[in-house]
Amino acid sequence: MKKRIVFLLTLSTCISVNAQDSYTPIASGANFPVKEVHLEFLREAQDVHSQREHLWNLWASINEEAPSGGPLWETWLSADHVFRPSESEVLAPPKVKNFERPLQFVDLPSSAVPEAPGQSQFATVLFNQEAHDFVRSQKLYLAATLDEINRSLTQQAVSLDNRDIPDFPRESVVLKTVWLHVAANGRTPIPVWDFNPSRPDQSGNDIGTWPRSVVVDTTGETIQRGILDQGRKVVPLTSFYSVELTNHNLIRNSSPGDHMILIAMHVTTKEIRDWVWGTFWWHDKADFGPYALNKTQNLRGVWRNYLMDVAFDSDIPREYEGSANAVINPYLEARFPMGMTSNCMTCHRKSAWPLASFLPIERGKISTSDQRFENRVRLDFLWSLGMRAK
Ligand code: HEC
Repeated sequence: MKKRIVFLLTLSTCISVNAQDSYTPIASGANFPVKEVHLEFLREAQDVHSQREHLWNLWASINEEAPSGGPLWETWLSADHVFRPSESEVLAPPKVKNFERPLQFVDLPSSAVPEAPGQSQFATVLFNQEAHDFVRSQKLYLAATLDEINRSLTQQAVSLDNRDIPDFPRESVVLKTVWLHVAANGRTPIPVWDFNPSRPDQSGNDIGTWPRSVVVDTTGETIQRGILDQGRKVVPLTSFYSVELTNHNLIRNSSPGDHMILIAMHVTTKEIRDWVWGTFWWHDKADFGPYALNKTQNLRGVWRNYLMDVAFDSDIPREYEGSANAVINPYLEARFPMGMTSNCMTCHRKSAWPLASFLPIERGKISTSDQRFENRVRLDFLWSLGMRAK
């Protein structure tokens, strides 16, 4: 694995490597995309069991090993590439990740971001080929195109219900991968989410406020079962999917040889009109509790160490006290005020141009005839379009 990365980097300094070279799609044998009527039935029937199985299968499919090594999603097209301003731009090889602060955290002044390893999240956004091709062919990466679509909808007096860009193709998949920095040859504490927020939901529960951490050990010493570091459980680097940092993608306060561990991932697919929303996060006891349910046998190795939740709908299935469906990833949404009650689809439905804030958190389906869509065009649920258009 290490060897291959070095090889790719050496290659990239001599010639420009086209990201397409090693692009690996979801295998044609995988059950993807699933028929829309079937998935819509699962939504209506509130068949959470089958919805979850669908997401675990998808997780297994995108984590299949690519011929170039590593999970196949790593060969997908980065947001930098999708939103490149012109066709001629030279591409970075796909595996040299450009780790960024999650755009959801833009409200945080950068000085407020904790600098120590393990204490702040980094992200990359990846598109599969179909989603990439759609953005490029429709020129949706240009603010001028979004302005033009919006202008023409207004000119033709199109009703609020129909102020949308064209739909992405059903085969589209978009990912948001979330990483924590772990020092080489050391022990880095990382926060683990046990569903026990220490603060009221309206104050937000950023990872720095969580009561428990585990310590990721990269010293190479043999880890004995049950060993503790200042009362914290020690886990090996091999319980995560991780990549090694190189001179080409260092983040603040990092050195070549440090690691980025995959702590969480958001996955959305256009298999239904409102997209299917799935989210995964690491846990040291990933075989227990409601978020481990229905895990399929085809998941192997580190990929079993993640928990999952799924949203097919903004409202159903309802929470036990009758409120709208809440589906979150603790590593991304817990920090928002009322983040614990958020829902992927509800927030993403608000993505429209000209851009407005994705906050505050709202619950339940937002009507397409909502006044906030006046003189604006909805961006088929993807926030990246409005936030990254050039
Ligand atoms: C409060 C609003 C909000 C909630 C809730 C939310 N997201 Fe997002 N999401 C965003 C924003 C803002 C971005 C940033 C877009 C980017 O990075 O380009 C984003 C990015 C993403 C992306 C990258 C692609 C894109 O264009 O949007 C995916 C995939 C995604 N979210 C999935 C999810 C899933 C799955 C959930 C639920 C577990 C979720 N989101 C919950 C606001 C939200």
